[in-house]
Amino acid sequence: MAASNPSLYVENTLTYWVSPAKKGGTAVVTIRALLVVILSVGLFLFSVAAQGSSVVELPAPSTEGTLSVERTIARRRSIGNFSEKQLSLEEISQLLWAAQGITDRARGYRSAPSAGATYPLGVYLSVVPEGVGRLSAGVYRYLPAEHGLERTLGESRRLPLREAALGQAPVSEAPVTVVVAAEHAQTTSVYGSRRDRYVHLETGHVGQNIYLQAESLGLGTVVIGAFQDREVQKVMDLLHHREPLYIIPVGYPEE
Ligand SMILES: Cc1cc2nc3c(=O)[nH]c(=O)nc-3n(C[C@H](O)[C@H](O)[C@H](O)COP(=O)(O)O)c2cc1C
Repeated sequence: MAASNPSLYVENTLTYWVSPAKKGGTAVVTIRALLVVILSVGLFLFSVAAQGSSVVELPAPSTEGTLSVERTIARRRSIGNFSEKQLSLEEISQLLWAAQGITDRARGYRSAPSAGATYPLGVYLSVVPEGVGRLSAGVYRYLPAEHGLERTLGESRRLPLREAALGQAPVSEAPVTVVVAAEHAQTTSVYGSRRDRYVHLETGHVGQNIYLQAESLGLGTVVIGAFQDREVQKVMDLLHHREPLYIIPVGYPEE
């Protein structure tokens, strides 16, 4: 009869496994204690991993907008004067998705075209000292596969980034600034001497997607190409083989 009770069956089996000779109460207590220890260690490791994880999950992007693509193109303008109004996490999610989000999960294709689908661009986000919604100040790397943000620096780089961009004010006025950087090796291996051309063309696609998405959301932006490469690399803590190509501040246009 005892074997028909699953818990007793498990208990007996475990008791036997620990010590076939001891089938009494001591062994049962031992195995229970062991299970408690294993569970506790597991829970502890899980909570440490969860706390240490710096990935912020972004809200799912929308593929429905209120402006037609024609009107969005017609209205698009470079805007460098921003109000103090903060962006929501939904808006940030939408902008990053437009820049490099996955639009074909089966093949891993993204929102902007890429020569040979090599995807050599990294997208970084600089957030002001006050933070934006659930994003605290610092620098984040966009993770297309997860549609999330990984925090790479814990302090705002707003002012040094503006200095690296030759003091251009939009960089310090905008609540968030996107930096697009190339990792050339990924395209070199496939395209050799045409590498730079392809990477730069792709960066243009990303910039235009951000322009159009910003316009469609009622936001303003301007692509910035005038900056000191090495300084931007240092300020954003990009590895030396990541070459910054665009700085793109985004915010609500000043009234
Ligand atoms: C490759 C490139 C680099 C640019 N760099 C800067 C820049 O450093 N600073 C800036 O204020 N605007 C920059 N712009 C934006 C242009 O000034 C802007 O596109 C131009 O004045 C036309 O205005 P529109 O974008 O409203 O049509 C850049 C644009 C491109 C395409």
